[in-house]
Amino acid sequence: MPTDAGLPPLGFKAAPGGCAVEHVTAAAVAIERSSHGTRSRVVWQPWYSRRRSRASGESADTMDAPAGMGWRLVKQALDRVGLLRPLSRSYHLWRARPFAAYPVVADGLPLPPPELMMLVGGDGDAAGFLETGRGIAAAIEDVLGRAGLRLDRFTAVLDFGCGCGRVLRHWSSVRGPCFHGSDVDSRLIAWCRDNLPHVSCRVNAAAPPLDCPAAAFDFVVLFSVFTHLPRAAQQAWLTELARVLQPGGHLLLTTHGEHYAADLTAAERACFMAGELVVRFPNAAGSNACAAYHPEAAILALAAERFEVRAFVPARFGQDFSLLQRRADSRP
Ligand SMILES: C[S@@+](CC[C@H](N)C(=O)[O-])C[C@H]1O[C@@H](n2cnc3c(N)ncnc32)[C@H](O)[C@@H]1O
Repeated sequence: MPTDAGLPPLGFKAAPGGCAVEHVTAAAVAIERSSHGTRSRVVWQPWYSRRRSRASGESADTMDAPAGMGWRLVKQALDRVGLLRPLSRSYHLWRARPFAAYPVVADGLPLPPPELMMLVGGDGDAAGFLETGRGIAAAIEDVLGRAGLRLDRFTAVLDFGCGCGRVLRHWSSVRGPCFHGSDVDSRLIAWCRDNLPHVSCRVNAAAPPLDCPAAAFDFVVLFSVFTHLPRAAQQAWLTELARVLQPGGHLLLTTHGEHYAADLTAAERACFMAGELVVRFPNAAGSNACAAYHPEAAILALAAERFEVRAFVPARFGQDFSLLQRRADSRP
């Protein structure tokens, strides 16, 4: 049993080396404590959660990346009859079945049920959820660092399209900013509200505006949100996010870029190479079935009116990271 106060006594078992090992459904996670804080580490995974490589550079959303032609034709047929979006959600929930839900605590915060992890990351695997989330949070801080910025120096941070807090949970010990999360999916936000006490959460509508005043935040982050929205929605949300950002505030968004170019069809690749945004299944906007691919030029075009690009870092977790700064003279 772990001896530290603060960790609930949920099915822990002593492990070699004095770690607390938590038997979650899809992995065993060791909780390690040191003077630097608490971190969780995967110590065992069954075959069904090891089947996909988690090597750095692989997207967290590979399940939704382009697959074979057969699968694509099925998706096209479903899209034509308006079933792609609802069935995409059911497919994710079905894929979560092998992972029974447990109210498990790993890293001091509860884990979301597998079906919610599946919705945001395409996998119900607890170990992968924690590992990927930690890596993304670190990558965001790294990209900020390249522009001389630090997360703990901001005052109000918004994770737009926060899902079930895969990234936000890793900032629970960051002192300084107030953290906010917003998502279109009320189930994801309900879970964050109940389980992430350091985050203030809200549900937003599928289209702007956000229910908050102008200039409310100095940093907004979107991990893998514009990857699932068509062009008009991206433009509308970028305008709205500029409104809620302070002049000079920063926005970091991630997109599918060159890393995925080889998976595109010849026609799609030609558009992509010509600098155009490619969007598959725009009718399924906001769900993982809708997939957008941004060449760097498309990001510049999207941002041009209100933002300057401060950094562009390709292919971290399969996604390109663009750090934008709201121009002080831009329209709100
Ligand atoms: C691939 S998931 C990523 C979630 C989270 N950023 C993460 O990394 O775990 C995409 C998220 O965007 C959310 N989303 C899609 N359309 C949205 C919209 N119009 N407004 C807010 N969130 C949206 C989805 O509900 C989902 O949680």
